[in-house]
Amino acid sequence: MTPPISSPGDASRPIIIDTDPGQDDAIAVLAALAAPELEVLGITAVAGNVPLELTARNARIICELAGRPDVAVFAGCERPLRQPLVTAEHVHGKTGIDGADLPEPTMSLQPQHAVEWMTETLLAAGEREITLCPLGPLTNVATVLENTPEAARGIREIVCMGGGFFGGGNTTPTAEFNIFVDPDAAQIVLHSGVPVTMLPLDVTHKALMTDDWIDQVRALGTRTGIAASGMLDFYERFDVEKYGTTGGPLHDPHVIAYLLRPDIHRGRHCNVEVETRSPLTRGMTVVDWWHLTDRPPNCHYITEVDSSRFYTLILTLLTPLP
Ligand code: RIB
Ligand code: CA
Repeated sequence: MTPPISSPGDASRPIIIDTDPGQDDAIAVLAALAAPELEVLGITAVAGNVPLELTARNARIICELAGRPDVAVFAGCERPLRQPLVTAEHVHGKTGIDGADLPEPTMSLQPQHAVEWMTETLLAAGEREITLCPLGPLTNVATVLENTPEAARGIREIVCMGGGFFGGGNTTPTAEFNIFVDPDAAQIVLHSGVPVTMLPLDVTHKALMTDDWIDQVRALGTRTGIAASGMLDFYERFDVEKYGTTGGPLHDPHVIAYLLRPDIHRGRHCNVEVETRSPLTRGMTVVDWWHLTDRPPNCHYITEVDSSRFYTLILTLLTPLP
């Protein structure tokens, strides 16, 4: 059994979660809210898996599921910087978090636009104080960095789920969904000068869920365990059918696991560029793994994970939630 992660009162790491829930986003947000080492300063919704109105709704549903109606949730960009919005209801269902029978949120959405709040928060922060955790298209984060470059000073690191290279894409043969939806935003983030750690399909596909693990989540018997397992049952069916595997990947929680247990993952600091123009390969993350170019390394690109420790950690985090 994983030892206690930490006792409350340990120095907690301030983070902002930028998300497009999404069942896997939901598990990541629940895990982050449960982790005493993390202080979730706020959650910013972005259009991605489903349109913005639904991602902003779902983020609040997840906070209330976790018993955290106090968390500030903001709505951000409703479409990518230069591309039309592409959504993924065929994967996540029409609500984005199909599989869980949860009530409409009662907590309010913050009136401020997510980009404005994120900008203000970063400008007011200490140097390299806040970690950004994007779990969807990078539109919100890129807009902050484009409009107010000096906000980067407040960012410790951007730890995002996105990209794919050695194993190809999941949305086109060469592109992963988050980067495909907004390739221009991803390129801006990778060239912002801010430290970026990317958790791509090359690592998430090496840690597939098992029916036994989902049953352990259900067996928690809590409203969180019942809702989470229902979402995961629904969510993994698409990948199981597409890849012919016995379980599906659980993408976004890798971001939270990386923050809490960086030794679970391994990768390499190298150059990553995003194709933004080609109709054939738009959204491809081109990873210079062997340093074949003189392009400067700009990303800690993660490719390995201890799957058993990853799923044990996520289950441990979900356990105390209501
Ligand atoms: O490609 C997987 C990513 O796209 C995950 O973040 C999932 O939630 C979707 O946003
Ligand atoms: Ca997501």
